[in-house]
Amino acid sequence: MDNVEILKQMKTLREFETYALDESLSGHGKLYFSAGACSKSTPRYNEDAFNRYRIRPRVLRDVSEAQTDCKVLDSSVSCPIGISPVGLHVLAHPEAEPATAKGCCKEECVFILSSSASRSMEEVATEVQSLEGIQPVLWMQTYIHKDRSVTLDIIRKAESLGFSAIVVTVDSPNCGLWRKIMPEDFFQMVPSELAILPSLPRNLEDASVTFEDLKWVVKNSKLPVIAKGILSGDDAKRAVECGVSAVIVSNHGGRLMERVVPTIDVLEEVVDAVSETGTEVYLDGGVRSGCDVFISLALGAKAVFIGRPAIWGLSLAGESGVRKVLQILKDEFLMTMQVAGVQRIEDIQRSMIKRI
Ligand SMILES: Cc1cc2nc3c(=O)[nH]c(=O)nc-3n(C[C@H](O)[C@H](O)[C@H](O)COP(=O)(O)O)c2cc1C
Repeated sequence: MDNVEILKQMKTLREFETYALDESLSGHGKLYFSAGACSKSTPRYNEDAFNRYRIRPRVLRDVSEAQTDCKVLDSSVSCPIGISPVGLHVLAHPEAEPATAKGCCKEECVFILSSSASRSMEEVATEVQSLEGIQPVLWMQTYIHKDRSVTLDIIRKAESLGFSAIVVTVDSPNCGLWRKIMPEDFFQMVPSELAILPSLPRNLEDASVTFEDLKWVVKNSKLPVIAKGILSGDDAKRAVECGVSAVIVSNHGGRLMERVVPTIDVLEEVVDAVSETGTEVYLDGGVRSGCDVFISLALGAKAVFIGRPAIWGLSLAGESGVRKVLQILKDEFLMTMQVAGVQRIEDIQRSMIKRI
């Protein structure tokens, strides 16, 4: 069976995962994308935590016109599902980030480009901006690097290339424990694959960063700034006081540390902490079905992002694989909305969720 046939048969993100781990990812790519800290407890917890929530549907609502279109940070998108920043897409597919970005933008979803990408910001921006009839929504991720001029360069480029937000990852005072499970030759091979940074952020991260530095990013960016990696209401408040426009509840897909709280379990606290400020809250980590999307929105997220699932799609069939992953999630989300009795995203209520 060729990849087109296999792609046609894919019905769930779980099937993409199984295929990616058994067939379409190999060697360094398979290790890199599935890596988590140590025993990989955190990525597992992220997924398992969704299973503790149940949806309580409302019935006999006219849901014949249900639709998933919405706005995320003032940009119109087809659904509240986007792609999180993940490094080195070339290890999944030779067409790398431009293929993922095109697939994502054709589905009219937000794409966040990683600063550890294997293709340049220029190349990705040019490829998606040349798509006809599409208004791509591209955000750029950066760390607050030890050498602040690296961060500033990324911000300036993002501004000039038409990206519409800066995503600052605030959860990484060091490179994280995922590195411990990687073979040493991975780090010798990788620098030649990186287009934006000279090396994977091993010597680039700064353990001394504080909220003052986040303020510095906001002050130095003409674009809205989003803090990624928030896991408590108090940190969310402090990030908002620094001037960020949104926060992403994230534990970095469980790559940094073991036994971190699942993102879905702290979402409500973060939403409540910043609700009066109108700050948008997004979530990533373990989102694998339309039902997970629904639960996240019911707990107050404005949108969710996926990391590894986009890579599974990319590894199977490049741009088309990424599109299929997003289509499956979107379709499951729409059907979940209807069965739960809601026509519009704004009608998804906290009372429709029960934690068991
Ligand atoms: C292989 C890999 C590389 C990642 N690289 C980055 C990165 O460069 N910057 C960043 O902020 N987060 C990075 N992340 C974290 C993701 O943005 C995201 O938080 C996480 O993958 C979401 O969880 P999920 O994979 O369960 O969907 C990476 C995650 C993975 C799996």
